[in-house]
Amino acid sequence: MDKILIEGQKKIEGKIKISGSKNSSLPILAASLLSDSQIKIKNVPRLSDVFLMIKILESLNSKVTFNKDFCKIKTSRPDNLCVSYDLVRKMRASFLILGPLLTRYGKAEVSLPGGCAIGTRPVDLHIEGLKMMGANITIKDGYVRAKVIGKLKGTEIKFKKISVGATENIMMAATLAEGVTLIKNAAKEPEIVDLANFLIKMGAKIIGHGTNNIKVTGIKKLFACEHKIMPDRIEAGTFALCVMGCSGSLMLENMNNDVCDHLVKIFSPLKSLYLKKRKKGECLHVTKVNKNLQSVKITTKEYPGFPTDLQAQLTASLLKSNGKLELKENIFENRFMHISELKRMGANIKLKGSKLKIIGVEELLGAEVMATDLRASSSLIIAGLMANGITTVNRVYHLDRGYENLEKKLENCGVIIRRISS
Ligand code: UD1
Repeated sequence: MDKILIEGQKKIEGKIKISGSKNSSLPILAASLLSDSQIKIKNVPRLSDVFLMIKILESLNSKVTFNKDFCKIKTSRPDNLCVSYDLVRKMRASFLILGPLLTRYGKAEVSLPGGCAIGTRPVDLHIEGLKMMGANITIKDGYVRAKVIGKLKGTEIKFKKISVGATENIMMAATLAEGVTLIKNAAKEPEIVDLANFLIKMGAKIIGHGTNNIKVTGIKKLFACEHKIMPDRIEAGTFALCVMGCSGSLMLENMNNDVCDHLVKIFSPLKSLYLKKRKKGECLHVTKVNKNLQSVKITTKEYPGFPTDLQAQLTASLLKSNGKLELKENIFENRFMHISELKRMGANIKLKGSKLKIIGVEELLGAEVMATDLRASSSLIIAGLMANGITTVNRVYHLDRGYENLEKKLENCGVIIRRISS
């Protein structure tokens, strides 16, 4: 298993090209199953989660070529409409295959995702939604077996809880269903808008994406298209929080206007982080300014709120700050695995239920720590950048799921960082 070594307390200064969004690429790759024409996708990040989704598509008879600039996909009817436990257990987003397979072929079998480090994460909303569209779904031996006689039928689905994945699965399923599907209490994340825009390019009839009410009018067939994946707002936010934790400035490139505005808004409570849009939103300049933080009170929320996927990194970036620092995790019940590792570096954090209180310390000390999930790993990298001495982050395969060339990008900005492969 690879490790990353970081020598802390260096100024971070330079330019970083932000990769395409992981959370947009995964559903868009799954959506390629909706058509038998060639799909061409640009700006797909080279991440282990993306390679896993490609492996799933290949296991379902798709031909995938992934060169430097494009990912090209051509699907043909799979002999076996099943995605095994072995593939789903490694990545929860594999479950997004269910909607496209079922609506296109009338049958699908996908393993139930297991538990994961950030909580139980059920898939009841996905299953209920598909059942309301006429699917017959049974769960047996850890597999969700879904079939439908004829086509899925459009209907009104009101989610009892907002879910990104369930919104995506139902939206994809609805594109080839009979009639109109109304998704109420839908998630509004920009990655859902990116998926909807991709589906519309394939010919789908969707309106209301980016709001809580999405309307999909089913059609018979979807076609070839070309699409560029949006920038990864979580990657960009992570680098901004590297600046927050250390000192210096970064020019984040390959951004877009909406992602810049979102980051400016969610980081506005951090008075010592200054963000400025450049080149009409193509770049975001992030600078650490000398200001004592008076008080920060942030709760993770669905979009456009502060993303849960940046909670661990935010926690790390505040460990040496002054003031009243309070965070609340509102999306996942158990997303705090990073805290015990941060404490090993000298962090003073009090966790009560879903609330965190950070008491700033003068110094963090480099230590050997263990990554437990994707975003916990990047919080340890940030703490390593802030610490005195060397930090060794173990189990960095978690990091490789969601950050493309992280060490190279940081190294180019003055950070002393090295991967040790075993
Ligand atoms: C997606 C993101 C993930 C992010 C999360 C929340 C991808 C590939 N992953 O995950 O990075 O952290 O959104 O922004 O895009 N829930 C249910 N029943 C369900 C589905 C979800 O109760 O059927 C609950 C979850 O346990 C959680 C909440 O709803 O508490 C939100 O989860 P959801 O939005 O579905 O997350 P994912 O789509 O899995």
